[in-house]
Amino acid sequence: MKKDVRYRVAEIIDKGLLHGVLVINNEFKSVFINDALCNMWHISEEEFINKSILDIFYNGNKKKSCGSYQGPLIETMDTGEQFSACEVYLNMPSQEGKWFLVSTFLLRDENGLPEFAVGNYIMIDKFKMFENKLNVVNMNIIKAFCKAIGVRDLYTMQHSENVAALIVGLTEYMKLPASEVTMAYLAGIVHDVGKIGISEEILNKPSRLTDVEYEVIKRHPSKGADILKEVEEFATLAEIVRHHHERYDGKGYPSGLQGENIPWISRMLTICDAYDAMTSLRCYCEPHSVEEALIEIESCAGKQFDPSISNVFIDFIRECNGDLGLNAVIST
Ligand SMILES: [Fe+2]
Repeated sequence: MKKDVRYRVAEIIDKGLLHGVLVINNEFKSVFINDALCNMWHISEEEFINKSILDIFYNGNKKKSCGSYQGPLIETMDTGEQFSACEVYLNMPSQEGKWFLVSTFLLRDENGLPEFAVGNYIMIDKFKMFENKLNVVNMNIIKAFCKAIGVRDLYTMQHSENVAALIVGLTEYMKLPASEVTMAYLAGIVHDVGKIGISEEILNKPSRLTDVEYEVIKRHPSKGADILKEVEEFATLAEIVRHHHERYDGKGYPSGLQGENIPWISRMLTICDAYDAMTSLRCYCEPHSVEEALIEIESCAGKQFDPSISNVFIDFIRECNGDLGLNAVIST
């Protein structure tokens, strides 16, 4: 039974759709949980597997006292309705609750009856922390962008949350004013929004990109900026996003800006972006250790990266021992 579930889940993962994964059967018992979700929930597979998630989380009740379901995975198993990227606050046994972006899928048996429900979980705690710092309309626009990125390419969604957590940590470490921290956070979240227009074959290609494919990828900062600048209040954000792949030595793209001509939040973003890409597990390369990534940043200071921001970033990561609670990105 378990092998069968793993095989079917692996099929979905192979389509690049999932991160933290939980599968329950029609008795609401967990039959599969992956390492990424065990890490996010601070539990071991042994203490979770073959147990009812209703008993673990909700005293055996499928629904709350108000009549709504406890969570989307339970609702999917009970009604067959599937959910795409909905925000859910999950209470954890013996720890603080956390916000997740949850998508669910129903697997049916050969007779068409519901057999398993699969939940995909992305932690969005930082995102929720900043939610009240924007007006409702702008927040909804940012959320729409996030969902668009997440639905197309979950690496980008998870990477965006990680980059946002890094840049917030860095700006707070530098004791910047709250308005700069918020702007940096938003830049982290939406910096790759221009990837919406790029095909999944290129985004999820398991091997090295061809020159032509790389040219397509290189268009994403300008595309992202063009999308963002449609909203008047996002003009500054759009320019930060436009220049997040510039290099300090002027050899970057799209404009070949050099040194301090590059917006300074873009210069911070470049370092956070590179650090997360180096330390996260992606489908086509092994992750670097924290120390290896810092050595790489140090060696590229003055070339790819702003040297003074690089120094501060390295101090910041060493001081927090690389422990920022970032989400691991699982490999296919
Ligand atoms: Fe990018």
